[in-house]
Amino acid sequence: MSPRVPKAKLDILSLLAQGGFHSGEEIGKQLGISRAAVSKHIKGIQEWGVEVFSLPGKGYQLAQPLTLLDGATIEKKCGTQVTLHPVIDSTNQHLLSRVDALESGATCIAEYQSQGRGRRGRQWVSPFGANLYLSMYWRLEAGMAAAVGLSLVVGVAVVEALESLGVEGVKLKWPNDLYYQDKKLAGILVELSGQAGGAAHLVIGMGMNIAMSQQTTGIDQPWASLTELLQEQQNHPLCLERGDVDRNQLCAAFITAWQNALQDYEQYGMHEFVARWNRIDNFLNRPIKLIMGNREILGVARGINEQGAVLIETEQGIEAHIGGEISLRGL
Ligand code: ATP
Ligand code: BTN
Repeated sequence: MSPRVPKAKLDILSLLAQGGFHSGEEIGKQLGISRAAVSKHIKGIQEWGVEVFSLPGKGYQLAQPLTLLDGATIEKKCGTQVTLHPVIDSTNQHLLSRVDALESGATCIAEYQSQGRGRRGRQWVSPFGANLYLSMYWRLEAGMAAAVGLSLVVGVAVVEALESLGVEGVKLKWPNDLYYQDKKLAGILVELSGQAGGAAHLVIGMGMNIAMSQQTTGIDQPWASLTELLQEQQNHPLCLERGDVDRNQLCAAFITAWQNALQDYEQYGMHEFVARWNRIDNFLNRPIKLIMGNREILGVARGINEQGAVLIETEQGIEAHIGGEISLRGL
């Protein structure tokens, strides 16, 4: 269930998102609340991970420009029904709890997740307005066996969609991460809700860092944001007038790319995705280790095979490994 969100906080954020300073008095007047209440809500907004400057005599201002997600704009661009929850526990959880009422392709997005999660119950840090949190329900007629390749197919679709929007240099780490310059830019999580009549009910979720503050805590590995990538190119078409990244455009592009890739995967299988994955594999031909519980295998990464297994070359030759408990690390 979504945490209870005071509407006032979202209204204050919409005001601040217009840019410039807004005094406590002005905000209070517009919302019909006291200055003390405004100050309390600002603290809550900061707890969602939004950086807000407070200057005596001037008021409050966002540290960076913010264009809020707009469900209608996204729906218009991608032609799919999109549910936008400004604040939610987890977009994956939201869909998982409702699969019975959903059609394949149904999509949920959020500005903030209080309980965003990664693989094996790890936390996905999800500050408000800084990133993308996107989940899609997919009914896979071929059943569980075919679910293995899903995070790979979706990852390929995202990198290719970025390339078609003029974003170069994003790569994949088996099985579910997007990397930029050896730092984690995004993660994909595929969760199974159940099986009925052979079909598997799956929820695919992705968190992608767009403009996450360097002050963000709670991430125990190097990470990247799309903003830093685009800063290297002036006037990138994905950047809006105030310089922030157009998350609505990105979101629509990813939804379309996922749906196309998932349909192709259902129709033709993993075959055509192998070469597409290997072209953008971050570790291809690089030394890596695979961690499986207490066991580690050292070798050279050789891409993936048609089952979606990761290939590693050791002195014994090329071995294929697959399964949810394997972690790949560069050396
Ligand atoms: P593997 O699954 O191969 O072990 P991993 O260490 O990336 O890889 P995941 O479960 O895929 O683990 O992802 C969760 C991890 O991602 C967290 O433990 C944290 O280190 C990191 N993380 C959490 N939030 C973010 C974020 N917003 N951006 C980048 N990384 C994050
Ligand atoms: C990973 O790297 O382990 C996967 C991270 C997946 C995070 C996304 S954000 C949207 C969706 N909702 C979640 O709770 N998790 C996924």
